[in-house]
Amino acid sequence: MTTWSAPGKVFLFGEHAVVYGKPGIAMAIKPRVYVTVRKGNQSHYGKSPYIEACFKEMGVRGSIYINSQLPSSSGLGSSAAVTVATLAAINDEYNLGRNLEELADIAFLIEKNVQKGRASPTDTSVSAFGGMFFITEGRRRRLAPQNYNLVIGNSMVSHNTSRMVELVAELKKNNPDICNPVLEAIEGVTMEAMKYLHDPQRLGKLMDINHALLDAIGVGHPVLTRLVLAARVTGAYGAKTTGAGGGGCMIALTPKNFRNRIAGAIEVFDGRAIITSIDTEGVRKENDG
Ligand code: MEV
Repeated sequence: MTTWSAPGKVFLFGEHAVVYGKPGIAMAIKPRVYVTVRKGNQSHYGKSPYIEACFKEMGVRGSIYINSQLPSSSGLGSSAAVTVATLAAINDEYNLGRNLEELADIAFLIEKNVQKGRASPTDTSVSAFGGMFFITEGRRRRLAPQNYNLVIGNSMVSHNTSRMVELVAELKKNNPDICNPVLEAIEGVTMEAMKYLHDPQRLGKLMDINHALLDAIGVGHPVLTRLVLAARVTGAYGAKTTGAGGGGCMIALTPKNFRNRIAGAIEVFDGRAIITSIDTEGVRKENDG
């Protein structure tokens, strides 16, 4: 029996646009998912398409126990974290000798399959390696970790990543003259953000713009916008939807001494707040016992 854990992630910039080869910036964050795998001839892994695919890809059978501190279907990369930690645990339990790069690639293929062919490697890369990444044209580049103070607001409105990705694909197909310039504007915001990674005040303003652009392509939600506004009026540098949208989570970039106040405002507006920061560690083995 072996237990591995992997971190969640937030998109700071560029979600959805990354699905079309545009750049994005994402960061691993503290809540983690813990996965225990035990060898066995029988398969005990419920109905998750991600977990089923992990055992199938690795060519083994066994049982699995998941303990997640990450809310699922909320835009914090819980399916990628489960996939990455499951692959790493299977690899260890069965001594399959795959390296981390290979596991990250398999995890991406699994995500892509479940998301019907449309996905970026962002969630799986960030969860596998930890820290901060710039993703462009499906490739990842590690960025120097930044000590941002983040407050996440979970709208508690559940969403489906595949469906939200599909919605943008439909808009892109039916209204390319509207959708494409917005995706290009998101690219512009991400590239501008790359110049100001050390300057949370400027980054915050860019997050506000990114939020409006996500609304423009139809992946907003009134509850998310309410939480975003609550964070901004209580002193956040900026705030935006993070992940697939249509529900799920928003993030606020905040001055350190405003974190509690902003978390409080999010809770007043019926969101669940998580105060967090970067997790520089990717998937790792936990002590069993
Ligand atoms: C989901 O966390 C982010 C999306 O950009 C999809 C993806 O990158 O695979 C919507």
